[in-house]
Amino acid sequence: MPSTVSEHDLARLADAARAVRRHAHAPYSRFAVGAALLDEHGRVHAGCNVENAASPQGLCAEAVALGMLVAAGARQVCAAVVVGESTHAVTPCGGCRQKLREFATDDTPVWCADAHGWRARHTLGELLPASFGPDHRKP
Ligand code: THU
Repeated sequence: MPSTVSEHDLARLADAARAVRRHAHAPYSRFAVGAALLDEHGRVHAGCNVENAASPQGLCAEAVALGMLVAAGARQVCAAVVVGESTHAVTPCGGCRQKLREFATDDTPVWCADAHGWRARHTLGELLPASFGPDHRKP
């Protein structure tokens, strides 16, 4: 089961992800994504995807939001919301699942939404089972 996130915080996260998605730089894919993360202090950090003409240099929305969280001095992802428009719920890509894992746990909830409402809810453990994390690096 995902950790509990209040309805209020979920609404804050969804609002932030939808708002930042409008700033996505996605001229190549035309696929705008917004992400918002709740930290251990109850603060929300948001990011959008930032594509690049040299395609592999582009950044996912989740990675940008994570950078904002860390730069603000936080170290825990308590919940994540990803917003994108697709026939399928937009979940974090494999690389971003691993990036989130650094600051989250197996039961951290990852919610997916579009412009109209919620599309899916997973835990990070469901999205990235048997993951490699910081504990593996402890001597
Ligand atoms: N993208 C994200 O930013 N997050 C996701 O969860 C899925 C994909 C971006 C990467 C790229 O800029 C565009 O969406 C198309 O793949």
